[in-house]
Amino acid sequence: MNIVLFGPPGVGKGTQSDNLVNELGITHFAMGDILREAVKEGTALGLKAKTYMDSGKLVPDALVIGMIEARIMDPEVTGGFLLDGFPRNVSQAEALASMLEKHGESIDRVVFMDAPEAMLLKRLSGRLICRACGFGFHRHYSPPRKEGRCDRCSGELYQRDDDKEEVIGQRLEVYGEQTRPLLEYYKALPAFRRLDASGEMTAVYAELMKAVKN
Ligand code: AP5
Repeated sequence: MNIVLFGPPGVGKGTQSDNLVNELGITHFAMGDILREAVKEGTALGLKAKTYMDSGKLVPDALVIGMIEARIMDPEVTGGFLLDGFPRNVSQAEALASMLEKHGESIDRVVFMDAPEAMLLKRLSGRLICRACGFGFHRHYSPPRKEGRCDRCSGELYQRDDDKEEVIGQRLEVYGEQTRPLLEYYKALPAFRRLDASGEMTAVYAELMKAVKN
């Protein structure tokens, strides 16, 4: 099964994807994580991407499309994939459609997750991530047992640079201008599902599972 998950920053795409890919046995491609990895490794592409990410703007299509195509077309990826954070504008969606067609693949579900902006702000500003294993927490909604330390591996928890207040506003603006129009692009497809992601995590997951299976 091939799934596309899209929605505003902080709506819970990463949180829900982790559970979903484990349950369905598919591969998770999170565009933001792929880019952050490139930044950490200091590759030429990562260095270029960093400037855009730090200011809350989208990384140019020419960089991200090639990165995602290489991954989803990897022959070792069997059983399907979940795309989280790609596509993020209409031209990326068109590129995805043509790369899938070229390789005889298609999208089985496109799930749009949404929640009110005030809730997105709370989720983003309280997010904490483990520097060692990447697991996500939230200061209020899913706090770690020991402050500043990951429950899973005891790694150090940090706040993403782009989760600082001044960058969050810009990310939400970019989302409204460039990513939300994907709704028009996808909503007529039989594969399209809309999900209210404002509930608590387990309730949202149950609804997501229904959206994927029905
Ligand atoms: P990316 O990392 O993809 O960021 P994003 O889309 O802004 O999404 P987030 O990771 O912020 O949010 P999420 O929906 O995954 O929320 P999460 O589950 O963590 O992209 C970062 C940057 O990379 C972009 O700004 C851009 O520069 C670049 N980029 C990425 N893709 C690109 C592309 N295709 N093209 C060009 N550039 C690209 O949840 C957030 C918090 O809320 C967590 O703390 C979580 O614990 C909590 N939470 C989640 N669900 C709930 C719930 N139901 N109740 C309470 N708390 C909850």
